[in-house]
Amino acid sequence: MDLSRFISKKDSSEHITPKRLTIVFAASEVAPFSKSGGLGDVAASLPQALAQRGHNVIVLTPLYGHLDPKAHRFSRRLRSLTVPRKSKRQDQLEATLWESRLDHGVQIFFLQADEYFGREGLYGDGDQDFEDNAARFAFFSRAAVEFAKDFTLPVDILHCNDWHTGLAPVYAKHYYEEEFAQTSLVMTIHNLAYQGKFSPDAFDDTGLPKSYASESELFDDDGDLNYLKSGILYCDRLTTVSAGYAEEIQTPQGGAGLHENIANRSTDLEGILNGADYSVWSPDIDRHIAVQYDIDTLNGKRQNKAELQHRLGLPIRPTLPLVGVISRLTKQKGIDVLIPTVSTLLSDLEDERDGFQLVILGEGSAEYRDALEELQKEFPTRVVFCSGYDDPLAHRIQAAADILAVPSRFEPCGLTQIYAMRYGTVPVVHSTGGLADTVADLRDDPDKGTGFVFDELTVDAFAGALDRACAAYRNYRKWRPLMVRAMERDFSWHESARRYESLYLSSHAEEEESAAQ
Ligand code: ADP
Ligand code: GLC
Repeated sequence: MDLSRFISKKDSSEHITPKRLTIVFAASEVAPFSKSGGLGDVAASLPQALAQRGHNVIVLTPLYGHLDPKAHRFSRRLRSLTVPRKSKRQDQLEATLWESRLDHGVQIFFLQADEYFGREGLYGDGDQDFEDNAARFAFFSRAAVEFAKDFTLPVDILHCNDWHTGLAPVYAKHYYEEEFAQTSLVMTIHNLAYQGKFSPDAFDDTGLPKSYASESELFDDDGDLNYLKSGILYCDRLTTVSAGYAEEIQTPQGGAGLHENIANRSTDLEGILNGADYSVWSPDIDRHIAVQYDIDTLNGKRQNKAELQHRLGLPIRPTLPLVGVISRLTKQKGIDVLIPTVSTLLSDLEDERDGFQLVILGEGSAEYRDALEELQKEFPTRVVFCSGYDDPLAHRIQAAADILAVPSRFEPCGLTQIYAMRYGTVPVVHSTGGLADTVADLRDDPDKGTGFVFDELTVDAFAGALDRACAAYRNYRKWRPLMVRAMERDFSWHESARRYESLYLSSHAEEEESAAQ
């Protein structure tokens, strides 16, 4: 993979911030270096958006086995990072730091600790999580704290993301209360379904003193160690990735067992919608797609469709809507509802001009892969399943498809529907979390609608929405303005980065105030 275009010395910051903050952003994945889903996209693009506002942003992420620092021309820091794995100076590990740059002057550091990260895979191997994940991400959290403490400038914000960094606020407050007195600890929940739960035996991996073994903040009621819960309870400010999801996670239905903990922190919680990086996801500059296009050259989209149909061995049928799905294959993503919905709709066809073609790109467990392969066998001229992770293909599907289906059971934000709109690919989504916050149904507002939204996650409701979308597609006089409206929606980071900035500023002001007392 040629990553050179992502490594830049360019600093085009707008310097519009009232106060320049130093922000360490710790994330277990950063696209395009490592990515399993939207977290990787956000960890690359939010720091750049903040840097554009004039902040000094430093990203810290693990150096996984698939990353070769020499091939990527990362530069090795002369000084290693000493990471104690118990109390302040005990059981230290010297981790190498490799440095590179993203656009807008963002520094990115890759933490090399081969016993934890020097292997293929981010969190697991195929269907199986790594057995030492408790130790791996306790280490990463501890390293983030040591890194921020020892950074050449005082760090104003340590921004942690998801359970992989859940212990960082605990370490910062336990070991370095004084050093972090003026640093605000911000925690973002990207997905509450992943909490970093481990058996109580894993407590030793945290290196924390025994007194914490009886701290309810670190454990679930059933006794499991819970890294995300720890982060939620120890951070200074809590955010999640859409306003809708911020509400949902405070309810028993959406709180995945943590709703009370989260609701108790509601005054510190804010839902800030993710943005899209249009320098990566935009059809006028996308280097992965067959033909670049924009609102004035929509014929290019048809060419992308024909090219993809050809490439995938589907009949080249311009009049048949092409539906795309780009998704991790998990329960969250509603694949179990997608399969019977497609099967129902495609079985009932009376005319071969009816219905749609479907391309699904997804990586996930054998159970879903097998079921999708069956679906493809059942409808060989209609359905193609591409198993695995393939970023260029994700771009090609966005450019080629007419409709993008996102039947997620819950969705904290969702980026694929946001990207789809920029490509004029009309989303059909379940009304939940960030999907409901970003897609307006055409039926509710024919002049402003940008897609099709269904309320219940059932075969009937999903099939109804897909049917409505396919019917609308057949009337180009209706469809074209819909595509254009979707393409004109602006989900760039601008507004969201501004909201993170004001959250950082108010939290930092509070820290300074209480440190002064
Ligand atoms: P989540 O983070 O829950 O997976 P999002 O919609 O926020 O969902 O982000 C998904 C990101 O991962 C998008 O950038 C999407 O293009 C990408 N993606 C998902 N599955 C695949 C895949 N199989 N191959 C390539 N990219 C994928
Ligand atoms: C998570 C969520 C997704 C969100 C992404 C980035 O993986 O499932 O909805 O867009 O994180 O915040």
